[in-house]
Amino acid sequence: MDKFYYITTPIYYPSAKPHMGHAYSSIIADFFARFKKIDGFKVHFLTGTDEHGLKIQRAAEKKGIDTLDFCNEISQTFRNLSKTLNLTNTDFIRTTEDRHKKTVQHLWTELVNNGDIYLSKYSGWYSVSDEAFYNDDEIEEHDGKKIAISSKSTVEWMDEESYFFKLSKWEKPLLDFYKNNPDFISPESRKNEVISFVKNGLKDLSVSRKSFSWGIKVPEDNNHVIYVWLDALTNYISALNYPDKKEKLFKQFWPASLHLIGKDILRFHAIYWPAFLLAAKIELPKKVYGHGWILSDDEKMSKSKGNILDPLEIIEQYGLDPLRYYLIKEVSFGNDGNISQDRLEDCINSDLANNFGNLCQRVTAFTIKNCDSKIPTEIEFSKDDLNILDKYKNNIDEIRNKIDKQDLNYYIEYIVNSLFEANKYFNDQEPWKKKDDKKRLNTIVFTSLEIVRKISFMLYPIIPESSLKALAIFDIKEDQIKFSSIADNNFLKKGNSINSIGLLFKKIEKKND
Ligand code: MSP
Repeated sequence: MDKFYYITTPIYYPSAKPHMGHAYSSIIADFFARFKKIDGFKVHFLTGTDEHGLKIQRAAEKKGIDTLDFCNEISQTFRNLSKTLNLTNTDFIRTTEDRHKKTVQHLWTELVNNGDIYLSKYSGWYSVSDEAFYNDDEIEEHDGKKIAISSKSTVEWMDEESYFFKLSKWEKPLLDFYKNNPDFISPESRKNEVISFVKNGLKDLSVSRKSFSWGIKVPEDNNHVIYVWLDALTNYISALNYPDKKEKLFKQFWPASLHLIGKDILRFHAIYWPAFLLAAKIELPKKVYGHGWILSDDEKMSKSKGNILDPLEIIEQYGLDPLRYYLIKEVSFGNDGNISQDRLEDCINSDLANNFGNLCQRVTAFTIKNCDSKIPTEIEFSKDDLNILDKYKNNIDEIRNKIDKQDLNYYIEYIVNSLFEANKYFNDQEPWKKKDDKKRLNTIVFTSLEIVRKISFMLYPIIPESSLKALAIFDIKEDQIKFSSIADNNFLKKGNSINSIGLLFKKIEKKND
């Protein structure tokens, strides 16, 4: 039976060009998408841009251009970034597309029909930068300005007629849902924050605006546009063509396996989104994971702070795979992580060039010289060989398990240890001293080649391009990578030729080396 996996990134505000935080969410999502794909799942991977709301309208006004033209231009830079990051996304949605508008208006009508929407008046604080409402106790005064404590963004007073969603009605069902689905919100620490927020009482939510027009119109009242978060969250199902009953995508891929987001937008995904879905009688996603922030100089990157690290510049200088590897390895997943060019260079030199690159080079060079460039045929595994080879088979369920818990730290640590062990094995076995015992030499070579192959399979979701370059040693192509075959100790075809490959990673000369 086919297995389906649906993963989403947040849809990004095209208010400014993409930065490292956006690249981070996308790279992590791509990791999971690729892993699931090589583990036999049919994967739908969605990303895109969130184009409505006052934030975008004002950004366009500031530039003096038509709002849609403004969105077209910046949305394209996000689409280009997906290519530059080598994402395997199967769709890219824009909330200004008709397919999306149709679903949002349908969902609105469902909420009205189910008695969850009413007209009233909103008076309170609103942050345009976060597109979020804040209570009095979530606001503080700073330099004479009111700001939201959590995001430090400026808030303004809003006083206007608005449609409301009966969020308060869903307080108890949400708490029941969290209780019955303990894995719904991850990581655990953030789950507790959400639960205590809901337990403190939910107020009905203002879900329309009348004072500006850049948004999707309320179906029965064109003076109002739909609140941008209700609009944006719906992208996860509009991209599956909900509510088209004949549509296969929705049947196959909903509920989503994983909404991957940053911790700052957890409230929207873990409270509002499930409440809207409950009200519309749509199944809830399986999991929402709120990752930490990428910090630059200990602060969250933002345009206003001027501390933005440009992913394109880093990729230009070091290449894509080093950046992907670095973000996955050095930012402990789930927590905030500081990034620096210095650490990135260390990572390239020690992990990629010395450990992985070097392993591939020395094993292939030895095979070419001593085994006539062929995968040895006459072999007999010793206890030492099986010890290192069988580890993968013995751990395969554990690795899958950890991936289903988004334990990226385990996965990368597993690879780092495996690389260390592999290099140690080759050193300790000293095949260069076994020229008189051809069978033993052959077996060490075969074992080492198998390990290179297994580790390259495991590295594929992290550094796809480099993994494929390494697998070119064996002429293994992308569609032949199956995660399950890391358990196979005889995957390589004995007697086949191997190819030499160019340098996988260039070492960086560090100024203070
Ligand atoms: N448009 C909303 C999301 C709607 S999803 C239905 C939004 N957009 S955003 O462009 O501001 O942010 C998108 C994602 O990038 C968020 O998950 C946010 O946490 C993440 N990041 C933005 N800056 C970040 C860092 N410095 N570090 C890591 N991720 C951060 O919110």
